[in-house]
Amino acid sequence: MSTLVVYDSNYGNTRIVAEKIGAEIAEGTAVVSVSGLTPERLTGVDLLVVGCPIIGWRPSPRMQAFLAQLGVGTLHGVRAAAFDTRVRLFIHGDAAGKISHALERAGAHIVAQPHGFIVEGREGPLAAGELEKAAEWAGAIMPTLHR
Ligand SMILES: Cc1cc2nc3c(=O)[nH]c(=O)nc-3n(C[C@H](O)[C@H](O)[C@H](O)COP(=O)(O)O)c2cc1C
Repeated sequence: MSTLVVYDSNYGNTRIVAEKIGAEIAEGTAVVSVSGLTPERLTGVDLLVVGCPIIGWRPSPRMQAFLAQLGVGTLHGVRAAAFDTRVRLFIHGDAAGKISHALERAGAHIVAQPHGFIVEGREGPLAAGELEKAAEWAGAIMPTLHR
């Protein structure tokens, strides 16, 4: 099975979460930055996990640009899940849910609830316990693949 984790990250926190998720899903999972990535890289991928920071209440600009390139139906047959990183704000907006919708529109089958992981301020670090939560979230994805 081919598994890919795609992330965007300004200060490194989302990359750390992406790498944790990749390691948890399966040894050898590719974890790649969205920078310069083209939709062709998704060809042949069975499980796709996508995450980025919330920037201005929505997915980061680089992630939005990537998602905008995914044509309707291009992810048909792909299992997918989305996450974001965010600060503790009363109104923090959402990226994971929006990514999840974009993946679904492209034809993917969503296998996990979109999830936000907390950072302590814009540059991080990740809040205590969030990496463990990331491992837990990722660990719950694998059993869904056999349903
Ligand atoms: C310009 C800018 C806008 C941001 N807007 C939001 C926001 O609307 N909601 C939120 O929860 N966090 C916001 N943040 C905080 C980011 O989510 C935080 O920097 C990110 O999770 C850190 O991840 P990274 O280290 O991977 O870049 C913003 C950060 C920046 C730099």
